[in-house]
Amino acid sequence: MVRSSFFAVGLVLAFFALSCSPAFGYIVETTFHVANLTVNRLCKNQVITAVNGTLPGPALTVREGDTVIVHVINDSPYNVTIHWHGVFQRSTQWADGPEFVTQCPIRPGGNYTYRFNLRGQVGTLWWHAHSQWLRATVHGALIIRPRLWQKYPFAKPDLEDTIMLGEWWNADPNDVENAALADGSAPANADAYTINGWPGDLFNSCISNNTYRLNVKPGKTTLLRIINVALNNQFFFKIANHSFTVVAIDAAYTNPYKTDVIVIGPGQTTDVLITTNQSPGLYYMAAHPYVSAVLPILNTNITTAILAYPNTTQTRPILPNLPAFNDTPTAHRFLTNLTALTTSPFWSPVPRTVDENMFITFGLGLSDCGANLSCGGLFFERMAASMNNRSFVLPTGVSLLEAFYRNISGVYTTDFPDQPPLIFDYTNISNSFDQNLLMTPKSTSLKRLRFNSTVQIVLQNTALIGIENHPMHLHGFNFYVLAQGFGNYDAATATSSFNLVNPQERNTLGVPVGGWAVIRFRANNPGVWFFHCHLEVHLPWGLGMAFLVENGGTPESTLPPPPADFPQC
Ligand code: C2O
Repeated sequence: MVRSSFFAVGLVLAFFALSCSPAFGYIVETTFHVANLTVNRLCKNQVITAVNGTLPGPALTVREGDTVIVHVINDSPYNVTIHWHGVFQRSTQWADGPEFVTQCPIRPGGNYTYRFNLRGQVGTLWWHAHSQWLRATVHGALIIRPRLWQKYPFAKPDLEDTIMLGEWWNADPNDVENAALADGSAPANADAYTINGWPGDLFNSCISNNTYRLNVKPGKTTLLRIINVALNNQFFFKIANHSFTVVAIDAAYTNPYKTDVIVIGPGQTTDVLITTNQSPGLYYMAAHPYVSAVLPILNTNITTAILAYPNTTQTRPILPNLPAFNDTPTAHRFLTNLTALTTSPFWSPVPRTVDENMFITFGLGLSDCGANLSCGGLFFERMAASMNNRSFVLPTGVSLLEAFYRNISGVYTTDFPDQPPLIFDYTNISNSFDQNLLMTPKSTSLKRLRFNSTVQIVLQNTALIGIENHPMHLHGFNFYVLAQGFGNYDAATATSSFNLVNPQERNTLGVPVGGWAVIRFRANNPGVWFFHCHLEVHLPWGLGMAFLVENGGTPESTLPPPPADFPQC
């Protein structure tokens, strides 16, 4: 039974050393109690899986350099893992969280304690379940402030708040996923979009207070930490009559970038400053999907929250004009104009030499429905997705990391190719339904990397089945985004456009629809690191692969043994 004591997030702060010592931080310790919760968002009581009885779940607020200890107790009916999206997990590889990649799930009734530190990152990250579709309701913010005596590279904001853009189903999201996987079809779209768990005034929810409200003071600066916690949608986000200055993305500082619209993909975070310099009133913050694929848009509603000045007599908030759903030029302008703040204490220069050059085509496809069966995907096959035409399958009996650590054979191969098996006109939509190109075989193949090697990847979208912007997320590392463009990648023209000086640093990048992006990172953390599309619909279809980074030969660069309470399969 859920008792009220579980609802409180008990933050135990312990002073470990002199606070001015740069080598130590606080310990932030808390318990995540995962259990059923009944909530009503669209005129219907719905049982969801939630942490500590809240949707969104509790925010973890720490300082850079702190150590986090989270005791996860699973009283839900589902297998659960928690992923700390964007945390590097140096020396704590077993705490990363993706199910069957770094750990076996915490079974119903089980528990596991995640321990890791937050050195070298400031800004906004988040945590979410990494098991089936649970992350729809099992998520929360991970807020990293500068350590004591350190400052933001901008004037200290007067106020801070977190804006989580999400999705809501009038159903159990795991049921939605399972129904689609059972017959190989595409899953149902969300019934509503949400801000901090609430659909907002423009959805019919049968209740009056279904809208998140942020009370502000006039003439002040507010830091908004925007997180896309949705499974399957990117969003445009605006606030009526207010503009933004972007100061960080994915917990990495950017050069200040002024804009009146934010574009944010699942997994990404964007920290913005707003100045409340408008006449006292009520202003909607509003979001709706950025839909890059040529698909029927099933739900055109707008989710809203209210930015409220004091002492206003206004009753109807002003609604901003959002871009059209398919406004790729606006999305592309925003996403390519961001640059890194190289004076940040956490910036390291782009590696100028590349040890591993990879060219990865990725997108949708089909997999075999099986003899005498007819599936719900195109051509009666099963919907699938792949990278270099390998459709990724997770193991079920042991995690990839444990198989690596214990030298268990037969779980994965390390033959993930550096090039696609076939060269074709990748982004030409006349190839979209070419049945000679669509079928993709299933495998669990990893790319092996030497410790500290530098990796460059050209990520090339394909037009198979459809062209779409895919938010690609790398676990364990940030990467630099050197260039992005539309169409087929052409090294002869693209190389000269690489930004090697101040490229944006991210853990999740929306690769342009029908286009490509070039990323680079240094593999300086041994372990197994998932690299996958953060559209949850594409993950079980196979849009992923993993890097296996070898040990480096020193104690700090060697994968430690798993913790004693590590969940067994
Ligand atoms: Cu935020 Cu592998 O996920």
